[in-house]
Amino acid sequence: MDVYNAILKRRTIRRFQKKAIPFPVLEKCVNAARLSPTARNVQPLEFVAVNDTTQVALLNKAVRFGGVVGQKGRVKGEEPKAFIAIIAEKEKITSYTNTDIGIAAEAIVLTALESEIASCMMGAIEREKIKETLGIPNNFEIPLVVALGYPLEKSVAHDETEGIPYGADEKGVMHIPKRPLEKVLHKNKF
Ligand SMILES: Cc1cc2nc3c(=O)[nH]c(=O)nc-3n(C[C@H](O)[C@H](O)[C@H](O)COP(=O)(O)O)c2cc1C
Repeated sequence: MDVYNAILKRRTIRRFQKKAIPFPVLEKCVNAARLSPTARNVQPLEFVAVNDTTQVALLNKAVRFGGVVGQKGRVKGEEPKAFIAIIAEKEKITSYTNTDIGIAAEAIVLTALESEIASCMMGAIEREKIKETLGIPNNFEIPLVVALGYPLEKSVAHDETEGIPYGADEKGVMHIPKRPLEKVLHKNKF
């Protein structure tokens, strides 16, 4: 899959198959994130990759799924099978760190997708619970976690002009309206 098509194909997925995620895939995702750009090359981020089933079960209790799209949260047996917590060392945090985090998260997501593994970036998380579960020291923040698993649901992006509502339809297919290119692309001048 070429990069552009991977970016187009990627959709947030919140329901996953039972199949486990091998640790080498997580390692590859973190390696891609590690080599991603950071402002001034500060490299404020570290990553906790988790595929241990006990740890994953605890993390699943500390994340919230799909509130805005009307999904009911965790469906038993369909939870993510792995997580990568993106953590930022407090003393290295700058005004650019959130940008660094976004770039690292996309690197993780696209690398996983290459192995047909789907994901959900997650900001609605119980940070203290995650910190305790993963033994993350107090000098780190947990801005974002990425939930991963082989997909069990379908999600399709549409131009918002099609009028298809954001969320799941009666068959459980997710629909994600996106602003059309001509609304967001300014040619040479705003
Ligand atoms: C920074 C960030 C935080 C997010 N946090 C959550 C979250 O806590 N729970 C969730 O279910 N989805 C979360 N999402 C997923 C978005 O809801 C999703 O990206 C959006 O619906 C668009 O769908 P798409 O990713 O398929 O384009 C998050 C996405 C981003 C970029």
